[in-house]
Amino acid sequence: MVKRIGVLTSGGDAPGMNAAIRAVVRTAAAEEVEVVGIRRGYAGLLDKEIVQLGPRSVANLIHRGGTMLGTARSEEMKTAAGLRKAAENLESCGVDGLVAIGGDGTFRGAKELSEISSVHSVGVPGTIDNDLYGTDATIGFDSAVNTAVEAIDRLRDTAEAHDRLFFVEVMGRTRGFIALSVGVAAGAEDVLIPEVPTDLEALSAAIRTRLAAGKRSSIVVVAEGDDAGRAFEIADRLGHVLVMDYRVCVLGHVQRGGAPSAQDRLIASKLGAGAVRTLLEGRTGVMVGVTNGMVIETPFVETWSKEKNLDTTLLYLMKVLAR
Ligand code: F6P
Repeated sequence: MVKRIGVLTSGGDAPGMNAAIRAVVRTAAAEEVEVVGIRRGYAGLLDKEIVQLGPRSVANLIHRGGTMLGTARSEEMKTAAGLRKAAENLESCGVDGLVAIGGDGTFRGAKELSEISSVHSVGVPGTIDNDLYGTDATIGFDSAVNTAVEAIDRLRDTAEAHDRLFFVEVMGRTRGFIALSVGVAAGAEDVLIPEVPTDLEALSAAIRTRLAAGKRSSIVVVAEGDDAGRAFEIADRLGHVLVMDYRVCVLGHVQRGGAPSAQDRLIASKLGAGAVRTLLEGRTGVMVGVTNGMVIETPFVETWSKEKNLDTTLLYLMKVLAR
């Protein structure tokens, strides 16, 4: 049975990562299993930046954004030598179980580590993008959506004051999960996502139609990975045909900060505890996720090779509700 667990956070940070770390540490403590924290993701593992963690180490943490361990991206980890060094560092620290909190890049590293060493590994989906197969939601997604919606609620005031259209760019890497949820929840008039080819002519015509119907301000949510480009590019391409004044607002890394929502704290607690349970029950090479409130396990490879469905019926709902 796994005797000592290492936990790390890797890739883009997400609100709720700390709640997941807390759940790993306290669940392991309840089973009298030691936990060490690995700072700065795989970069810290390569530098052996290891810290002992106990129940008190994660006190007063559940409500804090970011990650107490820090995170980083590591090019060295993508090399055979780097991978070997990371595996040796884990084994020399007596770590025989790894909980890797992050996205697909994090899980690729964890899978490779398990393949060249005796270390078992389990992934916890920690990214605001929600672009991992095998979980209804990733840790950080709900918080990021809430942050973006709050920002758009503020933009509405000034858009209405000036009879303006706002192009609002949100994160999400190559998927439109953040953009679509934000679009519906913020009552946006349009949302541009990578999953649906963007027709700028149709967008421009829709804006004109709504203006003629008396809608004097509009919000267009743009996913950063949209096929038509980033928000500023789209605004530049449309500017000469738009019949109303417009501005662009890129929400950027604001979406990654702030206190995790209750929903993110809940799934982070479930998944941090679930990851420890999976390791202690002898399983490895899987990501723990939540579906219909239940914790499930998905083989690492499927989390990035299988495409997660986007609820495109929300697009139709938006069209109806944005009239
Ligand atoms: O993966 C999370 C994420 O916030 C993406 O949505 C975004 O494209 C990327 O990270 C930004 O990466 P960085 O923080 O390195 O600029």
